[in-house]
Amino acid sequence: MTCWAVVPAAGVGRRMGADRPKQYLRLQGRRVIDWTLQALLDHPAVAGVVVALAPDDPYWPTTEHADHPRVEVVAGGRERADSVLNGLHHLAHKAASADRVLVHDAARPCLGRDDLDRLLHEADGPDGGLLAVPVRDTMKQADAQGRAQATLDRSRLWHAYTPQLFPLESLRRALEGALAAGIAVTDEASAMEWAGHRPKLVEGDPGNLKITRPGDLALAEFYLAHGRAPFRG
Ligand code: CTP
Ligand code: MG
Repeated sequence: MTCWAVVPAAGVGRRMGADRPKQYLRLQGRRVIDWTLQALLDHPAVAGVVVALAPDDPYWPTTEHADHPRVEVVAGGRERADSVLNGLHHLAHKAASADRVLVHDAARPCLGRDDLDRLLHEADGPDGGLLAVPVRDTMKQADAQGRAQATLDRSRLWHAYTPQLFPLESLRRALEGALAAGIAVTDEASAMEWAGHRPKLVEGDPGNLKITRPGDLALAEFYLAHGRAPFRG
């Protein structure tokens, strides 16, 4: 299967609180986004990658992939979903309507080959799918005062990761529809669910974390140093 990838990288990293967006911080001597892009470009199924950048982003030209022949850039948008949609519109000019697209956060540099292989294999259908990790703690629902009101059935709860894989045209339609309907679209799967699809949850490695807060950089370093992907199960 041939597919494309869209990498939203137009965020500012507010929760990280660093002097630059987190995708441009250094991780074992390399920019976070360079690890992320290499994990995608190394896979033979990935034909090309579209990166969505903030307007006037001064950091992108300093990355290893700025002049890569299979990497193109588009302008990002106000929310993550807007950035992804801009990437999909760009791909519409070069991809066939039946092509698939992987959407993967720039801030997830520890994606392992094994996870990507399994996603491509198991989420190949019209509903697509996503890497996800089963919740391990007992899950509480809070009331307005911050007190536990109920205990949720953990056996059916998952953390949604990326990459998420969908037929390009279905995803474009679902994202446009969900945004127009005012739905909060925090990942691609939520737009597909809104459109009536049931994306496959493909169990992934918890090491494929999204760098979000300062401590996550050290965790990502640990996962990269110990090889990507031995922490599943
Ligand atoms: N992203 C984007 N366009 C936006 C917002 C986010 O492309 N308007 C990207 C980020 O660059 C990141 C991914 O979406 O790669 C996941 O978002 P998140 O972890 O929330 O990153 P930030 O929005 O940068 O962080 P924060 O929410 O803490 O500000
Ligand atoms: Mg954000």
